[in-house]
Amino acid sequence: MQSLTFTCPDDWHLHVRDDRALNTVVPHSARQFARAIIMPNLKPPITTAAMALAYRRRILEAVPEENHFEPLMTLYLTESTTHDDVRAAAESPYIHAFKLYPAGATTHSDAGVKRLDRIFPILETMQRLDLPLLVHGEKTDPEIDLFDREKAFIDDELTSIIKRFPALRIVFEHATTRDAVQFVTEAAPNIAATITPQHLLYNRNALFEDGIRPHRYCLPILKRETYRKALIAAATGESRKFFLGTDSAPHPQQLKESSCGCAGCYTAHAALELYAELFEKAGALDKLEGFASFYGPDFYRLPRNSGTITLEKRPWQVPAHYPFADQTLIPLKAGECLAWKCIGKSEAPPAS
Ligand code: DOR
Ligand code: ZN
Repeated sequence: MQSLTFTCPDDWHLHVRDDRALNTVVPHSARQFARAIIMPNLKPPITTAAMALAYRRRILEAVPEENHFEPLMTLYLTESTTHDDVRAAAESPYIHAFKLYPAGATTHSDAGVKRLDRIFPILETMQRLDLPLLVHGEKTDPEIDLFDREKAFIDDELTSIIKRFPALRIVFEHATTRDAVQFVTEAAPNIAATITPQHLLYNRNALFEDGIRPHRYCLPILKRETYRKALIAAATGESRKFFLGTDSAPHPQQLKESSCGCAGCYTAHAALELYAELFEKAGALDKLEGFASFYGPDFYRLPRNSGTITLEKRPWQVPAHYPFADQTLIPLKAGECLAWKCIGKSEAPPAS
């Protein structure tokens, strides 16, 4: 049987939610990844170091005993974020970045930023204290076509942020377009991007395959095939600016399968298996380790993991659903067959 062993990976963009939901989703991630950047878009959002540290403890309680898993916390940037908030984050060994949600861009983004110039003084402090900015890169003006929001954000917002704060480390989260790939590739080394499995797997036709597919709906929305190909080329190419970030975003079945369904694909149940299949199809399995395990920690200036992960080429069927607090969670590719199966991590001491 073909098998694959490489340095233990990390997930650089993950939603785990809170309370009892943690008990389903945290073990899925902890089985495959050593660390994950935890998104702060709870209700209310995680805006202070104290909130992040309490949230981190709740996440750790949901980690199975047999796994090491380190949640890397982030804070939600608002127009009320203070310089003291930034300083407290910079001083904490557990907080690694701020997340910028333009208001209205996605799930729980109503507390996000309406006018970017209002947070420029905060970005200045982040730049000085070397705290990375993670961006949901979509411009939300209602007259901008949904499929053009990413390019509009790059042209109208990101370019000026970078000009004003040239040393600020920025992760362009969940890149979905050729424009984003090109922009990040040509930008300075302090600008990088994460790429999700769903944007590598599907083009926008997949939203309407034999009917509407709510479990493939996420934001930024799936894009055209030429863009999917550009993402595959970026993820499997030579650049060290693109790394793994699942954006796994669980929602209860009834909120997805609804007349106004919410955005988010759940992929943590099979994250690495999905990426492995994609990299294999692209003839680039040898590039998976860099994307999944090296370029992320290098960008965040954290040590690479010392343990390993093993996958076997062994077909398995994704469960139709998982329990999710007292509700149900439908994973991406529910009921479908995947080619690779994650056997587990070797539990070397966690990276510090
Ligand atoms: O599809 C998404 N779901 N995109 C996001 O940016 C947020 C996420 C969520 O939290 O559900
Ligand atoms: Zn996200």
